[in-house]
Amino acid sequence: MKALIVYASVHHQNTEKVAKVMAEELGADLVPIGQAQPSTLTAYDLIGFGSGVYGKKFHKTLIQFVEALPAVTGKRAFIFSTSGGGEIQTHAAPKKLLMNRGFSIVGDFSCKGWTTWGPLKLFGGTNKGRPNEEDLEEARVFARGLKEKYI
Ligand SMILES: Cc1cc2nc3c(=O)[nH]c(=O)nc-3n(C[C@H](O)[C@H](O)[C@H](O)COP(=O)(O)O)c2cc1C
Repeated sequence: MKALIVYASVHHQNTEKVAKVMAEELGADLVPIGQAQPSTLTAYDLIGFGSGVYGKKFHKTLIQFVEALPAVTGKRAFIFSTSGGGEIQTHAAPKKLLMNRGFSIVGDFSCKGWTTWGPLKLFGGTNKGRPNEEDLEEARVFARGLKEKYI
């Protein structure tokens, strides 16, 4: 089983930090969305899709990438995000797109990420230092669980 992680992380590289520890744990290849082609996925069985949340949505480059994917069979996907709120609700839209393309969704992970978006930037933003070591450890534990089951 080979694993790949594609991610969009444009604000403070918060999602990239999570993507890196997950990739280490899974032994996955790590590709920023700007360098990913739909054909990149061919060689992988387990694929992680990660993004920061911007206006309650995953970054449009990641969504457009998923929309451009052909139908697949036998591929598993997991979804992760960082956001101001740290909630998982924003995963519903990418999850639906992936399921429509034939992926089976095997996990979700989200945590808070530092943001200087909006007026709070005058005060250093919110969630300063997040994802922190505790968040990254949770991401490692999540990835380890996937590794034990699927790799
Ligand atoms: C333009 C913009 C819009 C954002 N919208 C939301 C939002 O709707 N909900 C939320 O919880 N966080 C929001 N955030 C905060 C980001 O989701 C958070 O900082 C995230 O960790 C950014 O990830 P990145 O550093 O990987 O880009 C927004 C940030 C920016 C810059």
